Amino acid sequence: MSIQTDPTPPAGTTPPGATTAATSAPAPAASTGGEPILQAKNVDLFYGAAQALWDVSISAEAGKVSALMGRNGVGKTSFLRAVVGEQPIAGGEILLDGKPLARMAPHDRARLGIAYVPQGRDIFPLLTVKENLETGFAPLKRSERTIPRDVFDLFPVLESMLRRRGGDLSGGQQQQLAIARALVTRPRLLVLDEPTEGIQPSIIKDIGRAIEWLRDQGTIAILLVEQYFDFVHALADTFAVMDRGQIVLSGTRDEMDPEKVRGHLTV
Ligand SMILES: Nc1ncnc2c1ncn2[C@@H]1O[C@H](COP(=O)(O)OP(=O)(O)OP(=O)(O)O)[C@@H](O)[C@H]1O
Ligand SMILES: [Mg+2]
Repeated sequence: MSIQTDPTPPAGTTPPGATTAATSAPAPAASTGGEPILQAKNVDLFYGAAQALWDVSISAEAGKVSALMGRNGVGKTSFLRAVVGEQPIAGGEILLDGKPLARMAPHDRARLGIAYVPQGRDIFPLLTVKENLETGFAPLKRSERTIPRDVFDLFPVLESMLRRRGGDLSGGQQQQLAIARALVTRPRLLVLDEPTEGIQPSIIKDIGRAIEWLRDQGTIAILLVEQYFDFVHALADTFAVMDRGQIVLSGTRDEMDPEKVRGHLTV
């Protein structure tokens, strides 16, 4: 994998095609002073006898982008898999809206509002775009099983490709589809694993704009794993840097020392 070097930060907070009335002002910060949607505390994780995470604590608030950075193989995806329930933790706890997730299965966590856009996207190549989006219905009540208009405002290309097979889309389009599918579930917590990986710069900008717009709705917490520093620097409200399974730097965006962070991203 490679680290993207496009220097232009994503900009704008209005989904393309959306009317201004709906989106002109960010929602008042439901986040300030409130309890974080996600709280991971002192998480330890093992693969067999090999420990992959040590004492990892990260939280994510509504209306904020919480970024987790670190070079290849340090444990970023392992942490996300612990959050979404794909890998058990050996120590610590993970809370969603104050509720311990403990041994809850991934589909139960999805029902509580956790949506996961995995690294490599994992869209279904033989299903159409529409069918891929409809797989997001799984955790929803029957009455909620519609594709929100916002999804097509954010990613208009998907609306024009509803009948195409997922496997026929470009990598960037597949990434947009994977994010869109996550949004179909109306998440409380959106978990994104390296959404810019292997994606062309114009689509990286679209994805950055989509994340900003979602953040500005004020209701969703976004947990973003990335190695592309400029993307994180433009988007993140808080950051944490992981090295060999531990958090080695963290803070608010204002506290971020770009040189120090970059030092942990380059090999
Ligand atoms: N299923 C698994 N079984 C055993 N070891 C694993 C497994 N998945 C990951 N690991 C190991 O755990 C460590 C952390 O891997 P992880 O995939 O979490 O890193 P990452 O930070 O997401 O890396 P990348 O940036 O390349 O995606 C690595 O040493 C990796 O080899
Ligand atoms: Mg990974």
